[in-house]
Amino acid sequence: MNKQEIIDKHRKYLFSCVATYYDEPLVVDHAKDNYVYDIDGKEYLDFFGGILTVSVGHCNEKVTKAIEEQTHKLQHASTLYPNEPHVRLAEKLAQITPGRLQKSFFTNSGTEANETAVLIAQLYTKCQDVIALRHSYSGRSYMALSLTGNASWRIAPTTVPGIHHIPNAYCYRCPFGLTYPSCDLKCAKDLEEAIQTQTQGRVAALIAEPIQGVGGYITPPKEYFKEIVSILKKYGGLLISDEVQTGWGRTGGKMFGIEQWGVEPDIMTFAKGMANGVPIGATIATPEVADSIKGMTISTFGGNPVTAAAALATIQVVEEENLVENARVMGKRLRDGLEALKQKYPVVGDVRGMGLMQAMELVGDNKKPDTESLKRLFEATKKHGLLIGKGGLMGNVVRIAPPLNVTKDQIDQALKVLDQSFAQLGH
Ligand SMILES: Cc1ncc(COP(=O)(O)O)c(C=O)c1O
Repeated sequence: MNKQEIIDKHRKYLFSCVATYYDEPLVVDHAKDNYVYDIDGKEYLDFFGGILTVSVGHCNEKVTKAIEEQTHKLQHASTLYPNEPHVRLAEKLAQITPGRLQKSFFTNSGTEANETAVLIAQLYTKCQDVIALRHSYSGRSYMALSLTGNASWRIAPTTVPGIHHIPNAYCYRCPFGLTYPSCDLKCAKDLEEAIQTQTQGRVAALIAEPIQGVGGYITPPKEYFKEIVSILKKYGGLLISDEVQTGWGRTGGKMFGIEQWGVEPDIMTFAKGMANGVPIGATIATPEVADSIKGMTISTFGGNPVTAAAALATIQVVEEENLVENARVMGKRLRDGLEALKQKYPVVGDVRGMGLMQAMELVGDNKKPDTESLKRLFEATKKHGLLIGKGGLMGNVVRIAPPLNVTKDQIDQALKVLDQSFAQLGH
């Protein structure tokens, strides 16, 4: 098929809600390492990694080899029959996740991972109420939609009862109009009043992304999660850390995002980058929380041997190639470059994030969200061969997240393209 045929069939045969980037959608043909090639053969440096999913480069040889070997050995068994890749992956997660996290349940997506997390928290605490953060994204099941704190993605009315949203730690646009640190972490402290006024005085859990992904890489102050956890524990709640975007070294220097904030979660969820693009979801919990599902449950494809082999190989590459440290070092280089762009172009109102998860919020006068400039920046960067992402409640945030094995030259190349593209906006 040629480009136009693919675009036409995409429009004709897929749900119209399957949104695509760019005025003319970019039809991808193939990809290798940190580069993607469109159907006309044009090369793009990939600084979004299929939404923070290509952790160790496209079609990574070691991951591909693991998939190929496992495909020839055992492709599917279901959870009814124990198999080695399934238990090896569970054991690996128990070894590398913090604290007492020990037992895993595998699914196929972040949505399912979060569903599982909330379910076990509710069963364990025998409580229905769950706290989520505004600007969050949790997925697209009814529960996950109800947890999501962003109207653009809430495609159905709220249907799941017992979910309450508190303001997030969005310092650039403080929900209380305050300034850090004199704010005294009002946003975290608000949790206590939320529990006291919106629940019976007990909660099952608080679910949070250590850095909000879809929300536009909103990064809380360093004491935020400690304050949250101290309040949460008073009311019997568990902390669910949604690591779908922040896991596997993405935030630099630590394997998981929540480790940046010095607290131990009771449950963690994963998806996206865990298997370098092979569909996977995982929920890990402390033994007593994990074992609170008393009946039987099944996920036909959860822990599939090929998927598990891909995840094990991805984690092995992250460890062997020291990519958690690479994310820290390259993340700093990227951040310094973005800060320089902020000095040069007033349209860049805020630069935030950690490691290889960096964002720029584009604004006009008085911090007015500038979605038009973001749209133009997208077209310009595409033309110059760079893929970036977007996010934020108002869709005015550039999200940058290259694969974890990104090189110095690739960072410099991306910064050069961003500079050229901002210059073309003419601000
Ligand atoms: C933080 C977070 N949680 C959950 C999800 C849902 O994951 P999935 O799309 O695999 O269902 C996403 C997806 O973007 C996410 O960013």
